[in-house]
Amino acid sequence: METPIFDFLTNYANSGTLRMHMPGHKGLAPIESLSSAYELDITEIAGADSLFEAERIIRKSEENASHLFGTLETVYSCGGSTLSIQAMLYLMKQERRTVVAMRTVHRSFLNACILLGLRVVWVYPDEENGILSGEYSPAAFEKCLTALEGERACVYATSPDYTGHMTDIKSLAHVCRKFSAPLLVDNAHGSHLMFTEEKLHPMSLGADLCCDSAHKTLPCLTGCGYLHTSSEKYNGRLKQAMSIFGSTSPSYLMLCSLDLCNDFLENNISGNLRMISDKVNSIKTALKDRYIFRKSEPLHIAIDTAAMGWDGRVLADQLTAIGCYPEYAGREMVLLLLSAAEKQENILRLQDMLTRCEDCPDNKPVQKAPAFPKMQSVMSMREAALSPSRLLPVEEAVGRVCAGVHVPCPPAVPIVISGEVITEQATEILKFYGVDSIETVDI
Ligand SMILES: Cc1ncc(COP(=O)(O)O)c(C=O)c1O
Repeated sequence: METPIFDFLTNYANSGTLRMHMPGHKGLAPIESLSSAYELDITEIAGADSLFEAERIIRKSEENASHLFGTLETVYSCGGSTLSIQAMLYLMKQERRTVVAMRTVHRSFLNACILLGLRVVWVYPDEENGILSGEYSPAAFEKCLTALEGERACVYATSPDYTGHMTDIKSLAHVCRKFSAPLLVDNAHGSHLMFTEEKLHPMSLGADLCCDSAHKTLPCLTGCGYLHTSSEKYNGRLKQAMSIFGSTSPSYLMLCSLDLCNDFLENNISGNLRMISDKVNSIKTALKDRYIFRKSEPLHIAIDTAAMGWDGRVLADQLTAIGCYPEYAGREMVLLLLSAAEKQENILRLQDMLTRCEDCPDNKPVQKAPAFPKMQSVMSMREAALSPSRLLPVEEAVGRVCAGVHVPCPPAVPIVISGEVITEQATEILKFYGVDSIETVDI
């Protein structure tokens, strides 16, 4: 696979050119260990192309990515999925659409809706697992779209969610087509899914627009992402939409990392994912009497400690003590996140560590995550978020209107949203997840 961005940057670094341009570090790192990174970090000099007006090396690299993902268009994001979500929703705003969205969204979705003043209709999960994960049926979206009676709408889904739980995107896409509603998928946790044996990536299941956080499961620098489309309607419009929100100084190191990842996607990922899937299945079988694993795609190992009567934080402490740091540890679960580039020896190490953990020392009944509250909205999200606000301890906020969203992070899924009335039940849930204060509308 060609790597046009990496090639340009290395040639420039080796050319000894006097850098009378940005960035201010001039290719020189303050410490030796970062020297290669600083050498490659440049700005939009001649030949280096420009992310939002890409015509040369960046465009070529993005076309390579598009080919690998099998899309009509794939563009790079140096602002993670957050920037791609803003761009997707901007395209919906241009079409004056109402967004029918899963309630267990990441806060980046809310922030984008606040910026754009979008109307959102929430779909609550049929079955939920606290704020971390939910089971949504396509029928619930169909009901909602029917109730909108011909209003222009689009559907926004997150799959896989933070725990690796997948939604039936294929059936959801079918529902969306019946209503001519574009399907937008937050696939932040699933960039690799185009390369699994069964292609489980939303773009191969019927999504119109989809964002991936390449940095979450692929060997890419933090903040790297993709925005994809296979719809004629949005083809060629992704860059302009992104440029409204993105910095005019995207990082060439990140672009280089996405460029190099294309080579991994072409040559290594499929075989690696097969190996990982086999090894993860073996871990789950070998340790099935010890741990309860939630259903998830292979890179997410979600241990349902609440169902086992353990506090997940106790298991996480044991893992940390022997040298393994989990992605998430809460009362109800521990999440271990693998990469599509994970080495076999690390998966075997993980198995050994999970085997070495002792039974939970104080086997007290574990408090299950409280049910997700059905909230009442009395103000638009935008109006509430842009109103004067006051930060209050959650106990004192009952009956007031939420202004700013306070989320437990991770998973950064909001419990109460701007414009909603804060209830007693909501404050209990906020406290369960360690959120002690909340921004309220001050009128
Ligand atoms: C489900 C989900 N969507 C979107 C995002 C935002 O992604 P990024 O951090 O790449 O901007 C996250 C981040 O954790 C996430 O978990």
